[in-house]
Formats: sequence, C-alpha cells, structure tokens
Amino acid sequence: MTTNTIRKAVFPIAGLGTRFLPATKASPKEMLTVVDKPLIQYAVEEAYAAGIRQMIFVTGRTKRSIEDHFDTAYELESELEAAGKTELLKVVHSIKPDDMQVVYVRQHRTLGLGHAVLCAKELVGHEAFAVLLADDLMVGEPTIMSQMVEQFQEWRASILAVQDVPREHTRRYGIVSGRQISDRLVEVSDIVEKPAPENAPSTLAVAGRYILTPGVFAEIEAQQQGVGGEIQLTDAIASLMRREKVFAYRYQGVRYDCGSKLGFLQATVDLGKRHPEFGTDFQEWLLNSASAQ
Ligand code: UTP
Repeated sequence: MTTNTIRKAVFPIAGLGTRFLPATKASPKEMLTVVDKPLIQYAVEEAYAAGIRQMIFVTGRTKRSIEDHFDTAYELESELEAAGKTELLKVVHSIKPDDMQVVYVRQHRTLGLGHAVLCAKELVGHEAFAVLLADDLMVGEPTIMSQMVEQFQEWRASILAVQDVPREHTRRYGIVSGRQISDRLVEVSDIVEKPAPENAPSTLAVAGRYILTPGVFAEIEAQQQGVGGEIQLTDAIASLMRREKVFAYRYQGVRYDCGSKLGFLQATVDLGKRHPEFGTDFQEWLLNSASAQ
C-alpha cells in the first residue's frame, strides 16, 4: 500500500435485486430513483465528495442503463444547449465531472458480494480502496465515505461502516464485535454474516460502506462458498483480521436500505422533505394529507 488516500471505489452492482421485484426484473435496482436521482448516482457523488476519482462498476446483465447514465449524452446536451437551458445542462454534466473516470468490469455469475469485489482486483491493484453498495443510501455531513477516509488516514487499515441495530434484525447483516477504541471506533475481533439474534456477538451491523486493504483479495480467493451458497465478503474480512487490524467505524448519519421497499419509501419521503426546490411544499402536502385521513 503506497498511498495514504483512497483513489478508487468499487461499486458492486451485479446483484439480482429480488427483494424489489417486479421493478428489478429488467432494470437495475441501482437505477431506482429517489426523488430525482438514481441510487447509483447518490453513491458515486458520495465517493467523489471523499476525493475518490476512479469509479469501478462491477456490472452484470440488465445493467446497461447504468453505463448509459454515466456516459456523455451528445444529443441531449446539444438540444439543451440550443434551447439555452444552461441550468439543466449543468445538471447533466455534473453526473460525470471531467476529472472522474468510470470503468466497468463484468461479474458473469452472481456468486456473491465477495466474488463481485474480487472481479475488480486487477483494476484496483495494490492499494486500499473503497466499496460502496448503492442500495444503501447514506446521508451524512460530511458524507459517510469522507468520514471513513479520514479514519483510514489515521489508522491505515481496513474500515467497516457500522451502526447499531435491534437484536431481532441481526439476521439481515454482517455483525461485528471487538475492543472499543473510542466512542465511534471498535477494533474488530469477530465478524459473522447474518447470525440469528441468539448467536449474534453484538448488535453492531455492517452497512454498505467499506475501505479495504488489497490483502482482502487473497482472502476472497481462498474462500469457499458461505451463507446462501455465495462467496461472502464478510468471510474474507474475517480471514483478513488474522493478518491485519480491521476497524469498525460508527458513522454519523442516516442509512436507508433502498434494496427493500420500505427503506426506499422512507428515503423518498425524507429526501423529498429536504429537497431545496419543493421540500416545503411536499411537507405541507404530507401534513394536509395526513390530517385529511
Ligand atoms: P444484496 O445482498 O442486496 O443482493 O447485494 P441483491 O441481489 O442485489 O438483492 P436481493 O437481496 O436479491 O434483493 C448487496 C450488493 O452486492 C451486489 C448487489 O448488486 C448489491 O449492490 N452483488 C451481490 C453483486 O454485485 N454480485 C453478487 O453476486 C451479489
């Protein structure tokens, strides 16, 4: 590891999104739109705000619209330009700033999150990198990834974003436990994928943001299929912990599980209420419609 900053982010977007059927039958879950932006754009903007400039998408079938979203749309741009719609033109340009690079690699079979991350091995090389799961929409100031990069700069080790969850929900997450270093930081000594509440070592759950050292690739390669027949990133991190320190960071902010219909609705309402253009009108409408029922 030669750099003290994180330059590359991996976005595993090859999953099938079965929890969001029928919407995800032919279109990617990451293109589901919360208010006016697709989920993947929120995640890319979060990485960009953290100083990351190379975005690596691990894609699969039915994900073509994501590539189009981050490509130049000449026709649209020249029409907006001809019509003098400069504000809209700026919005379109901002999707992919000039100093941002987007690259794609295919995961040919959905063999799990660990396997998806492994697909980016050659593109990442020998440096620490970020992983962002776009279906976890994370809102924080500074952004969650910026907070994590700051932690990485201090500890030079893998950092997992974590949050406290109710014990009855442990089955939905990777759960960590370990030695408390400070209010927000735990040195991880145990990590388990989707434990039953009675077996969970704690209620500290891993959210969809990671900074990983390149050593994780060898650990993924050594993995057998784990829970659900998939190659789990959690199992690789558990092995990595035997060689290197791994930290869990309790981020400051809110996470919406937009891979689930309920989480997606919650994100839509919360972000809609905060929207600079129509947030106030939307709040008023919500109040009126609640009192009319
Ligand atoms: P999920 O566990 O949410 O799986 O994956 P999923 O297939 O996307 O959705 P459900 O559970 O069927 O509704 C977490 C992240 O890992 C990616 C997904 O795209 C998602 O961002 N992933 C998962 C891959 O890229 N490849 C895989 O083989 C599995």
